Amino acid sequence: MKSPKFTGAYDLVVCRDSDILAIKARDVIVQCGREAIQQHRRFNLVLTGGSSPLKTYLLLAESTGAAAIDWSKTYVFFSDERCVAWDDPRSNYGSARKSLLARVRIPESHVFPVQTQGLSPAEAAVAYADKLVEHFFAFEHGVTPRFDLILLGMGEDGHIASLFPHAAALKVEDSWAIWSPPGMSPLVDRITLTYPVLNTARNVAFLVLGENKAIALRDVLEGNARSDDRPAAGVHPVDGKLTWLGDECAASLLTRHRTKSSETNSDTRILPMG
Ligand code: 6PG
Repeated sequence: MKSPKFTGAYDLVVCRDSDILAIKARDVIVQCGREAIQQHRRFNLVLTGGSSPLKTYLLLAESTGAAAIDWSKTYVFFSDERCVAWDDPRSNYGSARKSLLARVRIPESHVFPVQTQGLSPAEAAVAYADKLVEHFFAFEHGVTPRFDLILLGMGEDGHIASLFPHAAALKVEDSWAIWSPPGMSPLVDRITLTYPVLNTARNVAFLVLGENKAIALRDVLEGNARSDDRPAAGVHPVDGKLTWLGDECAASLLTRHRTKSSETNSDTRILPMG
């Protein structure tokens, strides 16, 4: 079967630069957290790896008052992880701990890093899926974990988490976390959440920065790309909201949004699309 194209509706937030994008992304995260805690007393959040979220994480860590999250009710998982020690500079958990988690008052028991050391990649994937079952099973018996917000970056090739173009992992429907063999630098084994989890989320927000992402972003949002070629095209939350936050460089090849009416100010254009 041909891989699906991107078909859903989404909000596109085009930001003047990475600083403005970090502010908008922080606001999206805080808003999702507030709504989640109001609705079900918890904020189940997935952090992405990569460099794109780092300014947002640092800003979130120093945010106070209305711009802050209630970390005592927040639970943090990871979109994917490299099979390296947590203190290895390539570790997504290690990076998030340095830029955010070690700077806020989140209980250690509320953070769920992917345990990879001492386990084979396949064992690590099963162990992470078990962590998800344990956490969500307490709430929603036997159904796919429904995160309140999943943050994602996107690679130049349109990959997300550790779901790479043409990878077998793109077809997985019956597991929530799987082993993803090396697909890009750093060439290490990885563990990644799968589409079923990503597309069950209440909110998914992409953070996309830089000219080098412009072609993939155009292919996904305006080019009918298939998820096999551009895995980001496979993300459309079935019963949730999708927000693409991009800087002007990443959005430079997009055309549709330039004609849409939008909420504008000098820093951002927020456009309901689809
Ligand atoms: C990873 C990330 C990955 C990342 C993209 C974009 O483990 O590498 O989860 O999916 O989000 O590669 O990375 P940048 O934000 O650094 O461009």
